[in-house]
Amino acid sequence: MKKYTEIKDISNLQETIKDAISLKNNPFEFEDLGKHKTLVMLFFNASLRTRLSTEKAAKNLGMEVMILNVNDAWNLEFEDGTIMNANTSEHIKEAAQVISQYADVIAIRAFPSLTDKLKDESEFVMNSFVKYASVPIVNMESATAHPLQALADAITITELSKKAKPKVVLSWAPHPKALPQAVANSFVEMMQNMDVNLTITHPKGYELSKAITKNTPINHNQEDALKDADFVYVKNWSSYNDYGKVLSQDESWMMTKTKLGNAKFMHCLPVRRNVVVEDAVLDGEQSVVIQQANNRTFAAQIVLKQVLEKL
Ligand code: CP
Repeated sequence: MKKYTEIKDISNLQETIKDAISLKNNPFEFEDLGKHKTLVMLFFNASLRTRLSTEKAAKNLGMEVMILNVNDAWNLEFEDGTIMNANTSEHIKEAAQVISQYADVIAIRAFPSLTDKLKDESEFVMNSFVKYASVPIVNMESATAHPLQALADAITITELSKKAKPKVVLSWAPHPKALPQAVANSFVEMMQNMDVNLTITHPKGYELSKAITKNTPINHNQEDALKDADFVYVKNWSSYNDYGKVLSQDESWMMTKTKLGNAKFMHCLPVRRNVVVEDAVLDGEQSVVIQQANNRTFAAQIVLKQVLEKL
């Protein structure tokens, strides 16, 4: 693997999931693969799971890890040919090349603005690093995608599924703040590559990009969509069409134990209790969110392993 900025970078998904589960059973099997190799992790935004699980994954492979909270460094300029006489002090052209001298792999977290759709969709942060860095880039959640989360979700469903083709429902939930579409986008793309029966449910106005959903069924009636579900993935996202806006905080979309039925409950975390999902679900036996978070390590580890093997 030359980079992991999007799900398409995985050449064989089923094999990758199988190998990730094998790593989970034997996490130190390749502890020498990353010897004398360094992962530099750049955070433009906050993180708990991504930061710790990716560091753990790298260390399981014997890598050194360096972490930079980018807001503690010089303000980066991403525009070409700009006159840098305002707030930015360092251009991505130099920064990416310099960091590449300290790193064998660079992992980046950079959320969208949710105000400038075209700029966010250009993935200018991730793509600038891909363009100017001389080492592989790993996406730890970008403006439009969270492929490491989606791989962890695919591993979790594979581990827990009791059926050949489980019914998986992605359900929007209310949230007081405007959140990115990245997790939902990557989950949909990942499920489209799995042998599952995927349905999306959300209030009108919360349609994800058509380029993502393609022919996946969308049902605006949550109760109807949830019928006979095996896995229910709950996530808030802000409007894509009315870009970045919170159009509804309709509490009736919160996930409850009654609505969940017999399905497993999934969420990428962090989650707001009794806003997105009621306590009874998170504290109940059908919640698999802790297992999902654990699988973040093995998603990151299989990705780093495949990247290291191509260095
Ligand atoms: N799910 C996830 O990416 O968690 P963090 O934002 O805590 O990294």
